[in-house]
Amino acid sequence: MDKKICFIGVGPGDPELLTLKALKKIKSADVIIWTDSLIPEKILDFSKEGTEKIKTSSLTLEQITLVMIKKFHAGKTVVRLHDGDPCLFGAIKEQIEILKKEKIEIEVIPGVSAFQIAAAYHEAELTVPDITQTIILTRAGGRTCMPEKESLKDLAKHNSSLCLYLSARHVKKSQETLLQFYPPETKVIVGFRVSWDDGWTSLIELKDMEKFSIDKKLIRTTIYIISPAISNSQNRSNLYNPSYRHLFRNK
Ligand SMILES: C[S@@+](CC[C@H](N)C(=O)[O-])C[C@H]1O[C@@H](n2cnc3c(N)ncnc32)[C@H](O)[C@@H]1O
Repeated sequence: MDKKICFIGVGPGDPELLTLKALKKIKSADVIIWTDSLIPEKILDFSKEGTEKIKTSSLTLEQITLVMIKKFHAGKTVVRLHDGDPCLFGAIKEQIEILKKEKIEIEVIPGVSAFQIAAAYHEAELTVPDITQTIILTRAGGRTCMPEKESLKDLAKHNSSLCLYLSARHVKKSQETLLQFYPPETKVIVGFRVSWDDGWTSLIELKDMEKFSIDKKLIRTTIYIISPAISNSQNRSNLYNPSYRHLFRNK
């Protein structure tokens, strides 16, 4: 039995994007509690025979943590699977707080987040010198309110690379806001269930973001990356510039 409950970021969906550490934990689990609405079932194929698999999409926080506590105290190795990286919109804090009150130790294993796989599919660097050196990971306000200082308008003012999670339902308002700060031709990577068997990505322009999303009926599991850094080949980094000296190349 593992003496901790492990929260595992399983990445965006493709099992080959699991870390070795995550894979090892999944293989050894007696009980897997998993976010079935956001994780493809084939991630569970790595589990051993007889592993109990509990879906969380219809459970409350109290029900989820109660089952974790009971199984753990029954001597089972319990793992909790989250999509992408657990630190991003994972709602792990509230689970961990309850488990810690029960004196249960926790381990968190990071995973590849949705924005990373979407950028990778388009060979995109989101931090290009003189264009932007910043990536904002955020969401459009919906039923979960945004803190006042983090309105999309305030974030868009930076003109950085901006990744929108959980925002397909709010694409109309998001596009309107973003167009106040980004040129209409700014490139947007849109990804639906990226790296799932039925997933895809597309490169569009900001001015088409709403129409595209409606045409594709996007509501869930969609990532948007709005970035002035995409499709710009003019700028190069200092790191590989012959005129730039650093620790590993000082001549
Ligand atoms: C509850 S959040 C969790 C994010 C996750 N922790 C991560 O790091 O990617 C769920 C949102 O993440 C994004 N997402 C997660 N997996 C995705 C995928 N495979 N393709 C596109 N978007 C994804 C979508 O915006 C989805 O609505």
